[in-house]
Amino acid sequence: TASFRGQITLDGPSGTGKSSVARGVAARLGAAYLDTGAMYRAATVAVLDAAVDPEDADAVARTVAAARIEVGTEAGTELVLVDGVDVAARIRGAEVTRNVSAVSAVPAVRRQLVEQQRALVAATEAVVVEGRDIGTVVLPDATLKVYLTAAPEVRAERRAGQLGITDPAEVAALAEDLRRRDEYDSSRADSPLRPAEDAVVVDSTDLDQQGVVDRIVELAASAVGAG
Ligand code: DC
Repeated sequence: TASFRGQITLDGPSGTGKSSVARGVAARLGAAYLDTGAMYRAATVAVLDAAVDPEDADAVARTVAAARIEVGTEAGTELVLVDGVDVAARIRGAEVTRNVSAVSAVPAVRRQLVEQQRALVAATEAVVVEGRDIGTVVLPDATLKVYLTAAPEVRAERRAGQLGITDPAEVAALAEDLRRRDEYDSSRADSPLRPAEDAVVVDSTDLDQQGVVDRIVELAASAVGAG
């Protein structure tokens, strides 16, 4: 692959295979990888550990401002620290997942983490950045913006597969949880989830992970060629 320089933003709802795709694209291009969702999840760990009510925006903002959140940008590893403590496993747990939407809706939290995200990106030559507002807010001048979607049933099935859930009632509950979280993320006042005007929308409903990675690598090549 020709060496890619620049930023690729990958936004979209959960259950689209976004993280695996982002890591796959980063690996193919030899680029760094930044998982901004992991940063909001780490902030949520800080809030839960401080026994702060996630709905209390002022207390959440103060708690996150006082926390040291560190994430790695190497595609092959997952480094997530809060005040020096490894929380990489914990951020994927149900308690964090339940509370992360509320924490990530707090404007002061978003300002703090967006600033940190821009600094991390500025230190790279080539990077794939995954999130919800990367193309719209964090990196408006990115080299390539991709918005990844998939049919809701397909997203719930994929999530279930990752979690090893087969019980139809549990899959249905998962679909409901996805729908509720999307609704919350898309309707919040600050940086709602939506495609940037100049984003390429990629629908992964009928594509496997490799197909999506191939498509984005192609788009990256033509974005660099055109630029
Ligand atoms: O991608 P994820 O499931 O790890 O994201 C966790 C939560 O963080 C999700 O509810 C949306 C929020 N988020 C956000 O608001 N902005 C981002 N750039 C990334 C994630």
